[in-house]
Amino acid sequence: MQNNKLEFDNSGIDPQTNFSDNPTFSDIVATRRGFLKGGIAAAVATVFGGTLAGCNSETKAPLTLPEVMKPAPVLMNFAAIPTNRLDKVTVPQGYTARAFLPMGTPLTGAYPAYKEGGLNTGAEMEQQVGAHHDGMHFFPLDARADGKNSVEGLLVFNHEYVEPATLHQNGPTAAPRPADEVRKEVAVHGVTVAHIKKDATGQFQLVQGSPLNRRITGATPMEMAGPARGDAKLVTKYSTDGTRTRGTLNNCGNGYTPWGTYLTAEENWAGYFMNADVAQPREHKRYGVATKNGRYSWETADNAADQYQRFNASTIAADANRDYRNEPNTFGWIVEIDPFNPDSVPQKRTAMGRFGHEGVVFQPPVEGQPVVFYSGDDSTFEYIYKYVSKAPYYKATAGGHLLNEGTLYVAKFNADGSGEWLALDFNSEKFRAAALAKNVEFVSQADVLINTRLAADVVGATKMDRPEWGAVHPTTGEVYFTLTNNTARTAAQVDNANPRANNATGHIIRWRERQQPQALSFDWDIFLLAGDVGTETPGTGLKLTADNHLASPDGLAFDHNGLLWIQTDMSGSQQGSGPFGNNQMVVADSKTRQIKRFLVGPIDCEVTGISFTPDMKTMFVNIQHPGDRSTVTKLTSTWPANDATSRPRSGTVIVTKDDGGVIGS
Ligand code: FEO
Ligand code: CA
Ligand code: CA
Repeated sequence: MQNNKLEFDNSGIDPQTNFSDNPTFSDIVATRRGFLKGGIAAAVATVFGGTLAGCNSETKAPLTLPEVMKPAPVLMNFAAIPTNRLDKVTVPQGYTARAFLPMGTPLTGAYPAYKEGGLNTGAEMEQQVGAHHDGMHFFPLDARADGKNSVEGLLVFNHEYVEPATLHQNGPTAAPRPADEVRKEVAVHGVTVAHIKKDATGQFQLVQGSPLNRRITGATPMEMAGPARGDAKLVTKYSTDGTRTRGTLNNCGNGYTPWGTYLTAEENWAGYFMNADVAQPREHKRYGVATKNGRYSWETADNAADQYQRFNASTIAADANRDYRNEPNTFGWIVEIDPFNPDSVPQKRTAMGRFGHEGVVFQPPVEGQPVVFYSGDDSTFEYIYKYVSKAPYYKATAGGHLLNEGTLYVAKFNADGSGEWLALDFNSEKFRAAALAKNVEFVSQADVLINTRLAADVVGATKMDRPEWGAVHPTTGEVYFTLTNNTARTAAQVDNANPRANNATGHIIRWRERQQPQALSFDWDIFLLAGDVGTETPGTGLKLTADNHLASPDGLAFDHNGLLWIQTDMSGSQQGSGPFGNNQMVVADSKTRQIKRFLVGPIDCEVTGISFTPDMKTMFVNIQHPGDRSTVTKLTSTWPANDATSRPRSGTVIVTKDDGGVIGS
């Protein structure tokens, strides 16, 4: 970092805060291996044999998923690309990748032009595409009808964090921070809603002046919804009845709903706040709220504005005018956004729990049955959760109310390949007894949800190797989750679901609910152990080759044809020193475990965020923080301009097949 500048901890990973004594499996005797029992043939037959009553044949496709292509295209017929360390996006022969909507693109209001060299003001940035593109979804313009429009729609994507070193003209100024630098940093967070349409040449372009273009930032007014709404722990100076808050932060992975709304996940939000009290309350400490200064020291903004001072949640700072003790409690949620109504107020869905939400993904809904969503908590040794709505889903009436009342469960992966969903339910005697046994007291369901991690600790959930994205197979209902890495796991902490100590390269776990999506038990196995060429996933026949070796899997999605796309988020040092090259994307046939590398990103970026048009002929992928080790005087990447002097910018990439064919064919 530059000398007279702030040394931000910009790792994007909150510190480990789970020191609970939940058991690992090393002390449990494995008796059965679930999917793997009987070898690979039996496992495949079990998984794909169509025995999932209630979650395949009767499954109704969600609005935004079209029918599977007919006739079925021949898939994975492209030649895998090798790893590389180039400062460009590489795709297979016969495909083209084009940068789209990079950070700073004029988007709303006065459509202020992007100025090279960090010269845009905070006010301008509020009307431009934000930074650090992450989770993303393409909503066809007719998403709430047929959902088949592949030429016009809303591209909605997250902005996870910020690179102050290249956002400002001379890098960031040390605390006290100039107010406009802080305003600009807050502005590049949040979500972009971009109305896009194919032009006469068939290329997607932003629809200038569309009323649907919208920026949601770290300052946008939002509603607290669900059981924690109005709770005393959400009462702030800004919202004296605990029903509102300002902004969404560190929006990492995403989700969407069967009723055509967008979900954004608040991941490493805790470090944006500080609380210098000698003893932090559990709703701060268990999430890693900072003790000295916020990640970007926004609380020191030199205009002393309430909007920025709120990032200091210390009691010792609290007086009648500076009481921000509950501000952090309004973060850590899944936020629902209606992208088709630019005046809609984003809703923080507290029923889905408060943690480091990576993303959120649903089971294909079944008429008359509850809706089921899964969400991972991406921190070291954290958990995987499942939300089951109380009310049944009906296509005609489905909406956000389904996310306000339901049961939140946490996953326990047993050593024998079975699994259990453990309810975090204040009204359950079993749950209250489990809490009591650990000397933990909850006073309400709101209290349970605000302290979701603690509630999961007391029921004995399985500590995972950093759960990132999930993906649900569109027809079988099988759930896949990336576990990106966990070098803190010791040999004594190894279990069957997290089978490697010092797990630097990560793995992918999958499970099948027993009988129906809302079931309380499931069967699981390991789909893939990531690593160098030659890495094997025991019992599966999978051995990685130069065509598909990878590390730190993160983004994950099934496309409309059932192919599984896997994106990586290796650290800069893992990319620079390892055998994996730049971050990348591979695609897998989940039945055969054939895997091929499809895309390699530019220098020091993360490849994340993925969506498709309904016709599968356009793929949207995000390139986050290219050249993130750059300073003003030393640029390590100049993507997407690639002209030697332009600062690197996060951006979307549009991938098409040169013959107009289906992506992945
Ligand atoms: Fe923001 Fe867990 O990656
Ligand atoms: Ca991620
Ligand atoms: Ca990651």
